[in-house]
Amino acid sequence: MKHLTEFVEQIDALAFVPTMGALHDGHLALIKQARESCESSKRVLVSIYVNPTQFESVDDLARYPKTLSRDLELAQDAGADYLWTPSVHEIYPEGLANVSLISAGPLGDLYEGASRPQHFSGVLTVINRLFTITKPECAIFGEKDFQQLFLIQKFAQEKFPNIEIVAGQTVRDENGIALSSRNLRLSPEEMQIARVLPRTRELALGAETIGKLRELLRGELSREPGFTLDYVEVVNPSTLLPVSNDFQGAVQVLIAGWIGSVRLIDNFAFTVKEQR
Ligand code: PAJ
Repeated sequence: MKHLTEFVEQIDALAFVPTMGALHDGHLALIKQARESCESSKRVLVSIYVNPTQFESVDDLARYPKTLSRDLELAQDAGADYLWTPSVHEIYPEGLANVSLISAGPLGDLYEGASRPQHFSGVLTVINRLFTITKPECAIFGEKDFQQLFLIQKFAQEKFPNIEIVAGQTVRDENGIALSSRNLRLSPEEMQIARVLPRTRELALGAETIGKLRELLRGELSREPGFTLDYVEVVNPSTLLPVSNDFQGAVQVLIAGWIGSVRLIDNFAFTVKEQR
């Protein structure tokens, strides 16, 4: 594997996995999938760039874990051909103060966007730069960040129609908790609290209507002391908008909350069978 500190030469037939580093098995699964799903792509490129424009607080940005030497080894073992660690100057040559952000539209203001204003503008802005520089054939993003994946898919369809956007399944630990670099900030007791998230998925199986599903989810999430709910939404996966209580068909449940100062998100797919 080659470590690129600057993307100087165009590389043909790239499958691209953008990350912010602190790689875990969720990222590594995307790297492996890049090899398999992007059939015509011959090279797998992983980028590590902690994008300042998507962080609303300087503290949050500064606190982001940095584990480059470990990341290099992990990415290589997972099958990456290139690991690219661009500088701020390479991504934003105009200087951070002069970046004009790409709007994520009204859907970027919902859910994660409501708690993190500008977050998705920052994400689309960096994806635009990363895609423009690397010109990949395909790029892989995790379903773990469902709203991000949705907005990037929509953005790429309009702005980069030749880049195939591939979705990677959420990788979970033995208790069903979605892997995240933020889990490293949870104590063992807090990791027990985090189990409320996968528990909602099991509970959902008992719901016969969306109305009932909403009731079950809210009940379970509010009963967990130590978990502060931000939102739980039941949305149509093709519009990202909330569905009505009598909706039938495939929905996506989006959940976010805090355990102490650590913000966690999760989501899962669910289908309400047509009642006869
Ligand atoms: P980061 O949080 O590093 O995530 C990089 C990619 O890994 C994203 O596509 C994310 O959805 C995926 N991922 C994270 N946890 C996962 C898990 N448990 N299972 C499967 N995939 C998982 O998301 C970002 O970085 C940034 O916003 C980025 C897209 C790189 C733009 O800066």
